[in-house]
Amino acid sequence: MALEQQLLATFDEVFTRCPTVVSEAPGRVNLIGEHTDYNEGFVLPLAIDRTVTVAAAPANGKAVRVYSGDFDARDEWRADAPRRTGRREWRDYVRGVAWALLDAGYELRGGDLAITGGVPLGAGLSSSAALELAVAGAFCALAELDVDGQKLALLCQKAENQFVGVQCGIMDQLAAACSRAGNALLIDCRSLELEYVPLPPEIAVVVVDSKVQRELGETAYNERQEECAAAARTLGVKSLRDAAERDTLRLPEPLDGRARHVIGENARVLAAADAMRRGDGAPLGQLMYESHASLRDDFEVSTPELDLLVKLASGTDGVIGARLTGAGFGGCTVNLLMAGAEERFESEVVERYRQETGLAAEMLVCKPADGLTVRNV
Ligand code: GLA
Repeated sequence: MALEQQLLATFDEVFTRCPTVVSEAPGRVNLIGEHTDYNEGFVLPLAIDRTVTVAAAPANGKAVRVYSGDFDARDEWRADAPRRTGRREWRDYVRGVAWALLDAGYELRGGDLAITGGVPLGAGLSSSAALELAVAGAFCALAELDVDGQKLALLCQKAENQFVGVQCGIMDQLAAACSRAGNALLIDCRSLELEYVPLPPEIAVVVVDSKVQRELGETAYNERQEECAAAARTLGVKSLRDAAERDTLRLPEPLDGRARHVIGENARVLAAADAMRRGDGAPLGQLMYESHASLRDDFEVSTPELDLLVKLASGTDGVIGARLTGAGFGGCTVNLLMAGAEERFESEVVERYRQETGLAAEMLVCKPADGLTVRNV
C-alpha cells in the first residue's frame, strides 16, 4: 500500500493531475513444468506477492505519456501508432501491448501512465509479463474495454514475441493474468484450460536468486525451442505433448534428451497437481528433485550454481523440495519448505551458497497471490 501511495504521489508530480485507475499484475514462480509450455504441455506456476503497478488517467486526445519510476524515464507516442524504439527496452513492452490491442481490433484512448515495479528485474520471476499485464489492464480501463484475462495474456505474449522480439511461451502471461491467492495455477498449454490448485497452508514458497546473470539465456532458450520442434517433426507428432517415452529411442542426441525431459516433466506436473489436490505435500519434493535432474542432465539448462543451491536445499531439514525455476541458465531456484523452516534455510542454504560462491544470493519468501487487478481510485 505504501508503494501505491508513493506511485499516486509520483503520478501527481509528473503529470500534475490525479490518476483515475490503478492496475497491478504480479510476477510468478513456476512450481513445476519447465520448458513444457511451448510444447503444448502442462505447467504449475503461482503468482507471487511482488507486483508491477500502473497508475493511469485518460486524456482527451490520442497522446500517450508514460513515466517509469524504476528508470526515472519518460516516453510519449500516439495511441493509434505505437512504434518500436529499436532498443528492446521497457518502452517497447509498453508500446508493444498497445500494438497488440490495436492489432486485435480494439480502439485505444490516449492517457497518462506512471509505472513502478516490485518484481526483481532479470531474475527469472517474469517482471516483463507483470509489466505487460499491468499496462494492458490500464489501457483497457482507459478505453473502457472489457477483455478477459486469458485473451489479455495471449495479446501480451504476442506483444513480447512479435513486437519486442523475445520468444516465450504462454505460462508467464497467464500466471500474471489469471492467478488466485492461495493457489497454484495448473495450465494445459494446448487447450489453455486452467485449474486452481490450493497450496497446502503449511507449505512456504521460497525463491532464491542465484545472482548468476542469464547472459546466453536468450540464445539457448531459442535453441531449445528449435530442438523440441525438430524432435516433434522427426517423430511425426504435432508437438512433444503427443510423444511417449519409448519414442525417444528413435531420436538422435541431443534431441532424445530434450524430448525425454518434456515427456517426463508433463507427467510430473500432473502428479504434483494430483498430490496438491489431495492436500498431500509429501510427493512434491521427489517430483521437484526429479524435475531438476532432468533439466540438468537431459534438457541441459542448469548451471553449477543452481545445482549447488538445490543440493544444499536437499540436505536441509524442513525442505520438501527444490529445483531451478524459469528458463534456467542462471536465475532462481524454487523451494518448498515446511512453514517455520525459513530461518534455518537462510543459514544452511543461502548463507553457505554465498560463502562457497562469493555470490550475493537473495532469498524471497513468497505468498501465492492474485493475478491482474484493476481498480478505480
Ligand atoms: C521462460 C518463458 C516461459 C517458459 C519458461 C520455461 O520463463 O517465458 O514461457 O517457457 O521460460 O519453462
